[in-house]
Amino acid sequence: MNINFSLLKELVGIYGPASNEKTIREYITKEIKDYVDEIEIDSLGNLIARKKGNGKKIMISAHMDQIGLMVIDIDEKGFLRFTNVGGISPFISISQKVVFENGTVGIIYHEPVDDISKLKLSNMYIDIGAFSKEEAEKKVSIGDICIYKTEFEENENVVFTSYLDDRVGCFIAIEAIKKINNPINDLYFVFSTQEEVGLRGAKTAAYKIDPDIGIALDVTAHGDTPKAKRFAVGLNKGAAIKVKDNSIICHPKIRELLVNIAKENEIPYQMEVLEFGGTDSGAIHVTKEGVPSGVISIPTRYVHSTVEMASKNDIINCLKLLIKFLESEINI
Ligand code: CO
Ligand code: ZN
Repeated sequence: MNINFSLLKELVGIYGPASNEKTIREYITKEIKDYVDEIEIDSLGNLIARKKGNGKKIMISAHMDQIGLMVIDIDEKGFLRFTNVGGISPFISISQKVVFENGTVGIIYHEPVDDISKLKLSNMYIDIGAFSKEEAEKKVSIGDICIYKTEFEENENVVFTSYLDDRVGCFIAIEAIKKINNPINDLYFVFSTQEEVGLRGAKTAAYKIDPDIGIALDVTAHGDTPKAKRFAVGLNKGAAIKVKDNSIICHPKIRELLVNIAKENEIPYQMEVLEFGGTDSGAIHVTKEGVPSGVISIPTRYVHSTVEMASKNDIINCLKLLIKFLESEINI
């Protein structure tokens, strides 16, 4: 399958923390508009793109939003205090670069601490190189959100960068939109908002669409690095078909369909039982009277760090599995 990873490189670099997804939404809209029948943006900012078909109404969700850091106060010397938007680790954040919507760059550091293991975000600050509160306030305001500055790297096996979560899901959805020609099912691709703060965009999008089936595309964790916690998912072992996480136990029929499709098409796959976390399917499956839902997960190391890593083969296999699933006749 012909796949262009330069689009992924673009996607991970575009600003879009939870609640401020405008720039990434506009970028994705341009990318897909010639390949879909209808495009709509709902009041929470979800981008909903339909490819019409006569079969099952399927909602495919990948979240556009990113984790970030929100300014809560600016001190007299121009240092910014911040809170997390989504899952931000203090340890991963030490000495990372961040960037605000207006391009202001800063670095994250911490007060001197006797015991680094007790480090909390409240002991940390962002230094934007301003020498006074007044100077800092010209660039940044309380409530502004910055994101980790992205450096994309790749080799023949893997990509590593910040924000594979979940721009790699968006990438797979965009590629599927471009590659599916005459859909037999009625496809609603949702590029959702505010996943990282509690699956909020997917919740309203699913209510509006009222799908027969829900599929989320998102990263999952890994169990294949030195002394990693037991988890039967690793890089380059195939698309991960989710059994459960903290937000959903996937519908057995959807799971079974995904497994059968993978087997029939010789697409490498692995089963995923994640003991934490959640995805958009967590919100979709409890919509209205319930929506049979599943998740295709991209195995990813170091999730929520600036060096998230995924295998190119896995990404391609996730895309293949998604396309074959969407192009199948589904009885449920
Ligand atoms: Co995440
Ligand atoms: Zn995610």
